[in-house]
Amino acid sequence: MSLEIWQGDITSLKVDAIVNAANRELRGGGGVDGAIHRAAGPKLDPACQALGGCETGEAKITPGFDLPAKYVIHTVGPIYSGSHSDPLLLAACYRNSLRVAQENGLHSVAFSAISTGVYGYPLGAASKIAFTEVRKWLRDHKDYDLRVIMVAYDARTYALYQKLLG
Ligand code: APR
Repeated sequence: MSLEIWQGDITSLKVDAIVNAANRELRGGGGVDGAIHRAAGPKLDPACQALGGCETGEAKITPGFDLPAKYVIHTVGPIYSGSHSDPLLLAACYRNSLRVAQENGLHSVAFSAISTGVYGYPLGAASKIAFTEVRKWLRDHKDYDLRVIMVAYDARTYALYQKLLG
């Protein structure tokens, strides 16, 4: 198993699954969600609609269609409000996405920085939660071969990820 960081457009990655920062309706949107829907092509939207939405903190999977990635795992981050549930729900996004990856026998997963764009989660706090939760999952599943790539779209996020990777 490994934990890596990478800077760039997540839609270019040839991995088993990329993790989308979706909304509860799985309707597609702006940010990384829009980029993934554009790159996956028109079949992704009906596949998402067939899933019947997704609760905050949960994760669901579709094929990747025209993407280099085989699958897209759609997770819905919390809209940042400063409440006690924010960190719990954000951690659940990472945990449930990894559970879905394992359930589907996937061995490489790339995460976008869930909730840190439109949903307004402060980047420093969100990144810490992301790394803590992924590391915990990898520790708890030592016998499962999994490569996790934390994708930073911009330089600021990448610098933070470098610090957190140590
Ligand atoms: N590749 C990787 N990361 C990207 C890309 C990309 N092509 N485009 C944007 N990002 C990064 C942003 O820089 C941000 O750090 O994804 C992170 C998450 O930002 P958003 O996409 O805004 O996701 P989020 O904050 O979780 O808000 C979700 O936005 O697009 C809508 O439908 C989506 O309603 C949902 C909401």
